[in-house]
Amino acid sequence: MKHFLDLASCSSDELRELIDLALSLKVEWRDGGNAPTLQGKTLGMIFQKPSLRTRVSFEMAMKHLGGDAIMLGPQEIGLGVRESVPDVARVLSSYVQGIMARVFAHQDVVELAEYSRVPVINGLSDDYHPCQALADMLTIRECFGRLQGLKLAFVGDGNNVAASVALACAHFGLDFSIATPEGYEMKAPIREQARAIAARNGVNLEMHTHPQAAVSGADVVYTDTWVSMGQEAEASERAEEFGAFQVNAGLMKHANASAIVLHCLPAHRGDEITDEMMDGARSRVFAQAENRLHAQKAILLRVLA
Ligand code: CP
Ligand code: NVA
Repeated sequence: MKHFLDLASCSSDELRELIDLALSLKVEWRDGGNAPTLQGKTLGMIFQKPSLRTRVSFEMAMKHLGGDAIMLGPQEIGLGVRESVPDVARVLSSYVQGIMARVFAHQDVVELAEYSRVPVINGLSDDYHPCQALADMLTIRECFGRLQGLKLAFVGDGNNVAASVALACAHFGLDFSIATPEGYEMKAPIREQARAIAARNGVNLEMHTHPQAAVSGADVVYTDTWVSMGQEAEASERAEEFGAFQVNAGLMKHANASAIVLHCLPAHRGDEITDEMMDGARSRVFAQAENRLHAQKAILLRVLA
């Protein structure tokens, strides 16, 4: 695995191996610590957008594995503004052994990878959030002891997180159904990527505009913010369009009795999810956030070791 940019470019076998590795690294960490396999290696972390989970979990993952990380915020690099993306890639990759980038345009992370001498990991773009979806699969596997044959329903915006979760479900054999307001569906090329992988793995993909229809019979109900980073100017319009797409106790009645609730976070309590669902017995959102650390260790070992 050279880069980790989107799940469509990975094979289902590669991803299964990553989950197995993440599970063993989690056990190793809890048993006293990880082997310093990445000693002498530094990860350059480019952020064009804010972050809690991605930033801290990548930095801690590098430290736990014996390596180091450097944070490069929006003011420091000015990716594509102060300096072109190819020039940043050429220079930064002569100093560090790996790059993780959180960007707006997905093309920027693709271009970083094209011009970098070292592996590039996508820490979220407007189109995908592959590290998140891998941690989500780890969380679901821990909850149910398996992935194959479950059903995940996504309620909300069909953008980056939904896209990566759909691709992950297609790879891991979970049926995927999504409910979005009209106009907020997953992008057609990404739907096609998911359909192709799902067809190979016998997975059912459904698109709905009513949350109840999507959630019916689901084992996992997943939501994300209605207003992604960079869309702040559309906040009031989106609040209206997404008003009926809240994950709450009423909606959860349509899911399986044992269904769990996931959210990539940060959550906007009272908008896409209620306090009751965030803090209730079905919620696995904080285990899910912790699993970013363990899943990313597996990604880092695969691309950097
Ligand atoms: N879920 C996630 O990526 O969180 P951050 O934006 O805090 O990194
Ligand atoms: N869809 C959200 C995910 C945040 C982790 C965003 O892009 O802001």
